[in-house]
Amino acid sequence: MSQEKQVFHPNREFAETARIKNMCEFENLTRFAQEDYEGFWGKFAEEKIEWSQPFTNVLDESNAPFVKWFENGKLNVSTQCVDRHLVDKKNKAAIIFEGDRGDSEIITYLQLSQNVNKFANLLKNQFNVKKGDRVVIYMPMIPEAAYAMLACARLGAIHSIVFGGFSAEALKDRVEDAEAKVVITADGAFRKSKPYMLKPVVDTALKDVTIVEKVLVVERNHEEIEWVAGRDYSYNELIKNENAHCEAEEMDSEDPLFLLYTSGSTGKPKGVQHNSAGYILWAQMTMEWVFDVKEDDTYWCTADIGWITGHTYIVYGPLAMGATTVMFEGVPTYPDAGRPWAMVEKHRINQFYTAPTAIRVLHKMGEDEPGKYDISSLKVLGTVGEPIDPPAWKWYYESVGNSKCAIVDTYWQTETGGHMISPVPGATPIKPACATFALPGIMAEILDDDGKKAAVGEKGKLCITRPWPSQIRNVWGDEDRYVSSYFGDATKDGKPVYFSGDGAVYDEDGYITITGRMDDVINVSGHRMGTAEVEAAIKKHDNVAEVAVVGKPHDLKGEGIFAYVVLKSEDTMAEEMEMAKEINGVIKVEIGNIALCDNIVFVDGLPKTRSGKVMRRILRAIAKGEEITQDTSTLEDPSVVGKIEEIVNSCIL
Ligand code: PRX
Repeated sequence: MSQEKQVFHPNREFAETARIKNMCEFENLTRFAQEDYEGFWGKFAEEKIEWSQPFTNVLDESNAPFVKWFENGKLNVSTQCVDRHLVDKKNKAAIIFEGDRGDSEIITYLQLSQNVNKFANLLKNQFNVKKGDRVVIYMPMIPEAAYAMLACARLGAIHSIVFGGFSAEALKDRVEDAEAKVVITADGAFRKSKPYMLKPVVDTALKDVTIVEKVLVVERNHEEIEWVAGRDYSYNELIKNENAHCEAEEMDSEDPLFLLYTSGSTGKPKGVQHNSAGYILWAQMTMEWVFDVKEDDTYWCTADIGWITGHTYIVYGPLAMGATTVMFEGVPTYPDAGRPWAMVEKHRINQFYTAPTAIRVLHKMGEDEPGKYDISSLKVLGTVGEPIDPPAWKWYYESVGNSKCAIVDTYWQTETGGHMISPVPGATPIKPACATFALPGIMAEILDDDGKKAAVGEKGKLCITRPWPSQIRNVWGDEDRYVSSYFGDATKDGKPVYFSGDGAVYDEDGYITITGRMDDVINVSGHRMGTAEVEAAIKKHDNVAEVAVVGKPHDLKGEGIFAYVVLKSEDTMAEEMEMAKEINGVIKVEIGNIALCDNIVFVDGLPKTRSGKVMRRILRAIAKGEEITQDTSTLEDPSVVGKIEEIVNSCIL
């Protein structure tokens, strides 16, 4: 039997004590939600959340797709993640920090509480941060980043984390769109034992921005930085003046918790808005179901807090359930590709969650490394962000998981807040590289263009046909965009439903396999890049007349970025080499290194319809070296296709 067809059943011993022990229990939960949707969610919301005032209504969809969950309920997410654990987990490790240079620190729930309270007091007393204010966090992977998030939550301020790899220009766009009052950053941090800097990026980003009143700087690497008088303050100094009690703001279930900008197929990145109760409920429930973390377990998610995975599965989910979460500052391949396994051994890590790109890199650079360490503590392995290919899956399962750990291939998005489709480790018979089934309560369905359930083997649109508590509530400041981006492309029974942008397929056993984006979004190393965004950056180069960007399969990154560029002037080959470098230079400034093109080819024209639409499908096929199956005779100038093929075949830069 080929590995792809093989089914891997849960480890019996593990299943015995798992929260969901078998498919019967899983199906009962699913049925409960199908038969009594509000009863299902109401029960878990009552059970899991510490309400300061109980909710009176589970779901209001009268104004769909603007929905309200747990109406009139009051809570505070930082209380949920910190205060309530002080009763019985005061001395339990909340965060284990592992620094780039091997330095570690254990932060207990009591210490977490003190740090978060002091941080919140600092923001309140010294920066006048209030409920509803936006605070941008541009931070490395250090515990202060988690304190900052929870301090905002405590005050009811809305944080918006910008990944530390984004450029000054990208940071500026996000600060302006969110109209942030405060930016929290660090001087820098460490990578491969060397200091790197963040504060200078903030300085450049804020040069012409007037809305930001204060910048708080955590001094981590203690390198020299510039301080703008009256704007920049040292966290390390100010925090000394604060006490460890700050009253938590009472928040409504639907008060916003955070914004996180993500790429779509068109326009600028969207500020995905998540609200308080529904988000934290599902963050906690999925932690419990999908990772099955137990009281004495240590859990590690390798994401960066700049992405949704870091929000939900490093900070909010683990802390909401009172788990021990590992935060890692470094690079997984430094000092060598055994680093993650050394960390598993050192901290006796039980659940490990990462992206397929990282697995591919660790496999390639250190195939035998896992065997050099005692990683027998591992129980559950997770993947997220992109499809995992069978060879990577096999290595992960056999060499890291010793053929005994369940691999949970979790499918979800920034907009979904938490996992949507995933195995649960004690119950689901796993098929490699397959997200398997929707979690109980999540009405995921693959629909065809007529809104009917797709047949077995038929690729369709992956939709979620009922609202769920942790769903995106709005695109910050743009309700129309929220509706058109997510509820404009699929219907069921004539009603608009949430369309993820992904294609998917059912197999004969009802398993769901994600086939990838159906829109113009590229998935680079598990990070979403909008083609429009990259194209807009490239167009900033003076000599670029037109550009079209597509994704191309990449051995390590999953997908790489392939750009077709039409120049204003005709250049020689040598000049084109120089131009390619310049174009990537512009991308670095406009977005950051994560959006650099792997291939840039210079062409005379792009394949367009008579109405001027660029036919990306043709460009995608050429980039992949596939045959073009589309009719090109209706193009404005059919001859461009052959010319582009010739250029691509002869000179991939
Ligand atoms: O295309 C899907 C892919 O990542 C996209 C979401 O990206 P983002 O919002 O940045 O969130 C990433 C982390 C949750 C999806 O639309 N994706 C995510 N998980 C998987 C996946 N593709 C295949 N398999 C997955 N497990």
